[in-house]
Amino acid sequence: MTALTATKTDVLDALRQIIDPDLGRDIVSLGFITKSAVCDGLVDVVINLTTPACPVKDKMKAEAERLLRALPGVTSVKVEMTAEVKGGSRPARQLAPGVRHIIAVSSGKGGVGKSTVTVNLAVALAQTGARVGVMDSDVYGPDIPMMMGLVGQPETTAERQLIPKVRHGVSTMSIGYLLPEDKPVVWRGPMVHKLIEQFLGDVAWGELDYLLVDMPPGTGDAQLSLAQIVPLTGAVLVTTPQAVSTFDVGKAIGMFQQVQVPILGIVENMAGYAIEGRVEGAPSRAMTLRTGLGEIQTTTDAEGRFHAIVDVFGRGGAESLAKRHGFPVLGRVPLNPAVRLGGDAGDPVTLAEPDSAEARAFAEIAGRLAQRVAIREHASLPILE
Ligand SMILES: Nc1ncnc2c1ncn2[C@@H]1O[C@H](COP(=O)(O)OP(=O)(O)OP(=O)(O)O)[C@@H](O)[C@H]1O
Ligand SMILES: [Mg+2]
Repeated sequence: MTALTATKTDVLDALRQIIDPDLGRDIVSLGFITKSAVCDGLVDVVINLTTPACPVKDKMKAEAERLLRALPGVTSVKVEMTAEVKGGSRPARQLAPGVRHIIAVSSGKGGVGKSTVTVNLAVALAQTGARVGVMDSDVYGPDIPMMMGLVGQPETTAERQLIPKVRHGVSTMSIGYLLPEDKPVVWRGPMVHKLIEQFLGDVAWGELDYLLVDMPPGTGDAQLSLAQIVPLTGAVLVTTPQAVSTFDVGKAIGMFQQVQVPILGIVENMAGYAIEGRVEGAPSRAMTLRTGLGEIQTTTDAEGRFHAIVDVFGRGGAESLAKRHGFPVLGRVPLNPAVRLGGDAGDPVTLAEPDSAEARAFAEIAGRLAQRVAIREHASLPILE
């Protein structure tokens, strides 16, 4: 008998042609192939990625199917994509040991959209199948309960751990659940430290791929406490176009560098004003909008709807800041009332208006963030040859 049918080696050799664009190596030597069975012309492969939020997942699957179908004697191809977020590069944590990555969402200034970015990224990551939590460490103004549409005291386990409140597929914990509403609390530095420690140690987070920590404004106690209490995978910095060049952003960057927390990237929020509209009887038409900042070209869709961004505050600030400090811009989110309304109603825009430009921006940012985490993790893991 001549070997006209592909073997397991042929399958792996074919898959070696697929290079992970971020890690710069082929998916076989990266150890991503967790199953490769060949039987009577049927090929069955499982590709296990480093994050379910991988932006090139669908492209990689299509490429694998194409390469395998081209092998001799192959009549049917099944490619399953799975993902396992690895977090093995750091020593085991005593607090929240089941959490792979703890990521702070921070800024230099208040009111730039940290909490909004936190909940939308959490929901976007959860939508990809990742296990996600949000810890609200803003003791001065805990906004996570409102933005996630959650109220009431959390339950406790038999071991007296607090059980996170879950909505939209995201596990959450906030001081807002534990304090009576409208009762201002005066927090001193050591109390903030204690609370962060309790929220990591006395909450039954279970197994999570990403725990996003919504930080209070500024570069104060909470940021330092968090970095001292647990090793962080990194921080996401949120700014607005106006805040980009301010002293506060520089201070925030310096603070994270000082405590050796890598900055995973910057999110430019309220970047440009979103104009939306509909022109009756003008489907799929090119149009020019005249604004105080010059002309903007856009196109209507099949129903005559259009969407454009006016860069009220200019653009490019976050890019130059990121370049100067050597971290990427994860994305830009336009200023749009829909984002605020989603936050006020407890249904983040990512879920409430999944087709909006803002929801797409959050999904892209979530993918890039997961990519950055995977790249950093990979740099400290062994390669299979
Ligand atoms: N892209 C956006 N478009 C429109 N409104 C937004 C956008 N991002 C945030 N907002 C709104 O701006 C306000 C401030 O946002 P948010 O509370 O998320 O900021 P923050 O940085 O967490 O503030 P703080 O420093 O007080 O914690 C909220 O009312 C929010 O709904
Ligand atoms: Mg906030």
